[in-house]
Amino acid sequence: MIGRLNHVAIAVRDIAAASKLYRDTLGAEVSAAVPQEEHGVTTVFVTLPNTKIEFLEPLGEDSPIAKFLERNPDGGIHHICYEVDDILAARDQLKAKGARVLGSGEPKTGAHGKPVLFLHPKDFNGTLVELEQA
Ligand code: CO
Repeated sequence: MIGRLNHVAIAVRDIAAASKLYRDTLGAEVSAAVPQEEHGVTTVFVTLPNTKIEFLEPLGEDSPIAKFLERNPDGGIHHICYEVDDILAARDQLKAKGARVLGSGEPKTGAHGKPVLFLHPKDFNGTLVELEQA
């Protein structure tokens, strides 16, 4: 069911410092920072030949990554995103197999403007999984 690894998301306290590190030290192609008010994060994408890295910095009071950064003050891997062809079919198949879909269960528009869903980390080896319709 799952296809390509779309991105690995890393939560950071300082997105400018993270961008500089990947651009200057690792020599990667790094996008501009984009504030995403509706998601409570600012994002940067690092484009690699085979996938992307997404930096997430908290934005606003109730950022969904604030607690994560409290537990991981140096930052850390927050989620991994796999592509699926049909997000509703994937959701129904996963639910039928007992996986928990976070939130209302209805896809939201993610940072790429495509429908996404998140799966409970306890059902997937302690890793928050994002599904994005390719
Ligand atoms: Co993501």
